[in-house]
Amino acid sequence: MRLTILGGGGFRVPLVYGALLRGTGGPLIEEVVLYDVSEERLNAIGHVLARLAAGHDRPPRVRATTDLDDALRDATFVFSAIRVGGLEGRTADERVALDLGVLGQETIGPGGVAFGLRTIPVAMRVAERVAAVAPDAWVINFTNPAGMITEAMQRVLGDRVIGICDSPVGLIRRAARALGLDPDRTAPDYVGLNHLGWLRGLSHGGRDVLPDLLADDAALKLVEEARLFGPEWVRSLGALPNEYLYYYDFTREAVAAIRGAAQTRGEALLGRQAGFYAAVRHAPERALAEWERTRAERDASYMAETRDTAGAGEREAADLSAGGYEGIALALMTTLARGGSTTMILNVRNGTAVAGLPPEAVVEVPCAVDAGGVRRLAAGPLPGRFLGLVQQVKAVEQLTIEAAVTGSASLAVQAFAAHPLVDSVSVARHLLDGYRARIPELDAVFRPAP
Ligand code: G6P
Ligand code: MN
Repeated sequence: MRLTILGGGGFRVPLVYGALLRGTGGPLIEEVVLYDVSEERLNAIGHVLARLAAGHDRPPRVRATTDLDDALRDATFVFSAIRVGGLEGRTADERVALDLGVLGQETIGPGGVAFGLRTIPVAMRVAERVAAVAPDAWVINFTNPAGMITEAMQRVLGDRVIGICDSPVGLIRRAARALGLDPDRTAPDYVGLNHLGWLRGLSHGGRDVLPDLLADDAALKLVEEARLFGPEWVRSLGALPNEYLYYYDFTREAVAAIRGAAQTRGEALLGRQAGFYAAVRHAPERALAEWERTRAERDASYMAETRDTAGAGEREAADLSAGGYEGIALALMTTLARGGSTTMILNVRNGTAVAGLPPEAVVEVPCAVDAGGVRRLAAGPLPGRFLGLVQQVKAVEQLTIEAAVTGSASLAVQAFAAHPLVDSVSVARHLLDGYRARIPELDAVFRPAP
């Protein structure tokens, strides 16, 4: 079988390849095809993968190409992890918003809308090429904002595209471990959108053990999300929020912390990444060591500014070994290819799973996965205060998709203005102008084709 990775020059591709090399149950993938717009980055990652493969018998072959159709042809699986506009785009997503006094973050708030606006046309073109040259392939989407992008790609590919994220499973594992339970023996009641969901229950041996956790101060201290939001707040919610909810629940603190830091997350990663690609060319060995070191650092510092503000302390070492997003992608791929059955939290079409959301809306919910595909499990109704936020953010996502598909600046302003983290229509207008001025890929969405 062939696995095609879109964004194959990305510096997380070695994680996916490393997971394939470690793969249990025998080789599944014979060939990995890396596709990227940058030949230089493809070469760099190619070096790293060759180093990782050394010493393994029959490692998956690796081929790199800058031709999309060539990359997609005969693929059984396609991983999509592209970043339109690169990390420079990410830093603009952050800064334009922060300069206007609102949240500047990769996927939440206006930064996420800007990221979506420029990514949607590219993701939909990818979907069209998959439909044309690899119509039976499964597309596993990590391209952020993952919910929005998966929904846009589903317009073309339907249920053949599935979105993934590592944050819900991380939360569930932390919650189970805090109670001394094996996470694999628990069943989560987790519902929401990507980067906007809550763990409302955790069933173990037929009983919901989440109330035990919420009542237990010592156990709660072991859960990063509980430290982030504080035990009183999670108790009054009756649920453990996804860590990204911090940006909604503590917006003021988050904005102040990010503005107060010397660098945004994107700016910090940009510096590290540039160093990595430069080093690979001259000294692949050293670059590989550096890459391993930066992984640990990168994971440990992820969302550090919000944890610092909340006094939530360091990330636990155990949190870093939950398998990461590459573990989830491979588990999904392996079950789709080989069968068996497993439950995973995935981004799929709502249908009737979450009452109050349209059927085509992509939601993040527990799903049963087997060789036939993915089936969402029914979710109990969301209480009003959760549902209201989910509906509003879904409306923003759908306005963003419409704006990107039609090239309508008016719809884009509506998307920014409808966001609960944008407090004025005039700010929404400034956001669109600011992003258009700084990000050529975003500006191009609103220019008539020549
Ligand atoms: C988590 C999220 C991803 C997000 C990433 C950001 O893994 O699930 O959706 O892109 O964090 O990490 P970074 O190191 O790029 O800030
Ligand atoms: Mn994610």
